[in-house]
Amino acid sequence: MKFSLAPSASMAGLLLALGYITPAVAQTFQRLGTCPQLGCIFPPTEAEFIAGGHFDIRLEVHAPVNGSEAYNNGVPDEKFKLTLDNGKGCSADVTSFFNIEDSPIEKWNFTYFEDLFARDAKTPTVVNVASKAYRNLTLYEPGQYQLKLSYYNTQQTLANWTVHEPAKKRCAKNVILFIGDGMPQSAITAARLIGHKQVNGKYKSTMQLDNMDHVGLQMTHSIDRLANVLSNTHQKKRECIDHAAHKLKPAKL
Ligand SMILES: *[C@@H]1O[C@H](CO)[C@@H](O)[C@H](O)[C@H]1NC(C)=O
Ligand SMILES: *[C@@H]1O[C@H](CO)[C@@H](O)[C@H](O)[C@H]1NC(C)=O
Ligand SMILES: *[C@@H]1O[C@H](CO)[C@@H](O)[C@H](O)[C@H]1NC(C)=O
Ligand SMILES: *[C@@H]1O[C@H](CO)[C@@H](O)[C@H](O)[C@H]1NC(C)=O
Repeated sequence: MKFSLAPSASMAGLLLALGYITPAVAQTFQRLGTCPQLGCIFPPTEAEFIAGGHFDIRLEVHAPVNGSEAYNNGVPDEKFKLTLDNGKGCSADVTSFFNIEDSPIEKWNFTYFEDLFARDAKTPTVVNVASKAYRNLTLYEPGQYQLKLSYYNTQQTLANWTVHEPAKKRCAKNVILFIGDGMPQSAITAARLIGHKQVNGKYKSTMQLDNMDHVGLQMTHSIDRLANVLSNTHQKKRECIDHAAHKLKPAKL
């Protein structure tokens, strides 16, 4: 059995994340996952892509009407700008960078409770949003990209993206990828013991899974929960399948 991802590395990442989560404001609940500032870039900072994959950009500028972050009388800035820098001397507005038309502004509002006191008092914070989406974009050049969203004249949200080079040697022609749900080592071991003849707790045969050329463990991540729920886990699997097929579908945001 070969493991493509060391479980200890992902555990260390999780522990690090647990220790270092510090909300920008003293709120129990987040206004929006990955967006501590009033300007939001999706995919957020630390996103990783494979060169040539398709993705969407979603930008949001928030104007909380009330609550501890109330801003600009609840009027979101509609003149926000996104610039991308490829770290190789090319820095441009999103439309010039991708050579696309500008997208129409979208507006909506949402409410959330800042903390348990607000929830008990039934006083949700109202947030107005101005937003734009750029669909089906592609970055062909591997490297580090820096994004800067400027809004409310003086405010900025930054993001770093990494674009990875696809494997150079593409020798596999047909790949069958099996993705198990709820299949940690403990469950696989239990299945091996229960499903096979065993003597004094020692199994006498192995499963097909044990004989596969490659077996790996995958960790799923959620932008607003440390413990994943089924839906985002499934989304991750979908991406994983698309990755394998070298045709990453744009993740609709
Ligand atoms: C939120 O948007 C709805 C329309 O979608 C509108 O009727 C409502 O007045 C808005 N609420 C606030 C507080 O702006
Ligand atoms: C914000 O305004 C809404 C609608 O006016 C109200 O229902 C809510 O209680 C207010 N929230 C806070 C935190 O003041
Ligand atoms: C995305 O763009 C590619 C060409 O780059 C096109 O083949 C594909 O159909 C587009 N997908 C969507 C969902 O628009
Ligand atoms: C982006 O990367 C630079 C250089 O590593 C770092 O200083 C900066 O804090 C990062 N920005 C964000 C938003 O993660």
